[in-house]
Amino acid sequence: MPTLVEIAHEHSDIDEASLEHLGSLLSEWGMLADFCFADMLLHLLSANGEFIVGAQVRAATGQTLYDTDLVGTVADPIEHKMIDQAFQTQKVVTGETKVDSLVEPVNLMAIPVRFEERIVAVLTRKWSQRTGRKPGQLERTYLAIFDDFTKMISTGLFPFVGRVADASVAPRVGDGVIVLDAETRVRYASPNAVSAMHRVGVSANAVGQTLAELGVAETAARHAFERREPVVEEFEQSSDVTLLTRTIPTLRRSGRQVVVTGGVVLLRDVSELRRRDRLLLTKDATIREIHHRVKNNLQTISSLLRLQARRLKSQEAIEAIAESVRRIRTIALVHETLSHEAGEDISFIEIVRPLLRLVEEGLQSTDRPVKFSVIGDGGRLPATVATPLSVVILELLQNAVDHGFPEGSRGGSVLVVLGIHEDGALTIRVIDNGRGLKSDFEMANVTGLGLSIVRTLVTTELAGTIQMRAAKVSDSAKDLTIAKDGDGTVVELLIPAVRD
Ligand SMILES: Nc1ncnc2c1ncn2[C@@H]1O[C@H](COP(=O)(O)OP(=O)(O)O)[C@@H](O)[C@H]1O
Ligand SMILES: [Mg+2]
Repeated sequence: MPTLVEIAHEHSDIDEASLEHLGSLLSEWGMLADFCFADMLLHLLSANGEFIVGAQVRAATGQTLYDTDLVGTVADPIEHKMIDQAFQTQKVVTGETKVDSLVEPVNLMAIPVRFEERIVAVLTRKWSQRTGRKPGQLERTYLAIFDDFTKMISTGLFPFVGRVADASVAPRVGDGVIVLDAETRVRYASPNAVSAMHRVGVSANAVGQTLAELGVAETAARHAFERREPVVEEFEQSSDVTLLTRTIPTLRRSGRQVVVTGGVVLLRDVSELRRRDRLLLTKDATIREIHHRVKNNLQTISSLLRLQARRLKSQEAIEAIAESVRRIRTIALVHETLSHEAGEDISFIEIVRPLLRLVEEGLQSTDRPVKFSVIGDGGRLPATVATPLSVVILELLQNAVDHGFPEGSRGGSVLVVLGIHEDGALTIRVIDNGRGLKSDFEMANVTGLGLSIVRTLVTTELAGTIQMRAAKVSDSAKDLTIAKDGDGTVVELLIPAVRD
């Protein structure tokens, strides 16, 4: 469906400021349709003198007369005459017309839309006595308000400049309406408005009292009347009840002056909405707090292990504990990162970088320095994937240091390359230019703890695959900053995208 702006640009030569005025009108006209219980159309004068429908709205309070979308169509001769008359005379025109869905004639009201000194479009309202609502006090009151707004539209007082209702939560006519006179005295309160006021403790009959006497939305109304523009205010009567109000002044021109004739307050009980917002906020904060505590607990565990290691004599035992401490610190790192995040997702690179630092600090021997670096990006990963992957990378880094650059070697470099496939799969390569794999190396025969951990996590927990091969210089020399003197090892992991 084309937008108003598209239609205007294609068919008319209306200027941008007028178009902006019409845009503001459209952001408010749901309320107008609701007050008059009828469908409304906005007609633009096209370059060849026709009136073309630029936008259409249906009332939430009444039955629609149009089964089809009329945007982009041209007014028929009967309607054209009335619309044109409103356009020329700058006055509201009423008459009868036909619609496809009904045999009997329907009423049409054509309202000229004024912007500054000229009429820029015509608004029509179409309704039928037959499909209309039985007139009661609510109907009469709403139609009177609609009448006020009609006059405001044709004298350029509505819509208000730059005041767009936030459509997602802004109260609508169906949520509750209070009609005020110029002294903010309640002239009418719709049944829903009465219920909403009940919930904030106003149980007396509101009619005849001022908002100040009732203690409801009075400052908002005062500001709206003083500034002659709508004011949105949310007020919390107790921690349980929150009302959202939007007070719109009704205005009239009197000579060169603009006077406030009264106003309407649309009000909506948003308690449930706000309660959910608050719950979400606290849930988020709680999750972050828990990650923080998990991190602290893991740090405590690793300190305890370190204390224990100090009392050991066996070199093998000391090393085993040092390895465990590093694994625990790696998991703590993930929780640390998660404790700063709003959700359960983390940018993987934020973990890989500190992980490299951890290894750099913990595993380096000064006699055979190893340079660690990372390139690429792993995107965002859920914690359930990031945690095992971090442990896997740690093991691979550790192996690169332990086996690629054993005692007596000269050191070298280790590179982690992250990448994301089009289908969302993650590739991780850990490349070293060290001594390389033994000629009889077989992944299937590996009995060491490190690769067993890697295999279990990658294949069973992450449903991925592992490949280990010799890193020939050709395969790495260009972008991977690997020295030419080592064949080295490449470990390649492929982790399919997680679907939830
Ligand atoms: N980057 C590497 N370079 C050379 N050999 C490696 C590399 N990674 C693993 N290996 C070989 O795989 C074996 C198994 O590793 P792992 O399961 O981690 O046990 P561990 O490290 O305790 O020996 C190692 O002993 C080593 O022979
Ligand atoms: Mg190992």
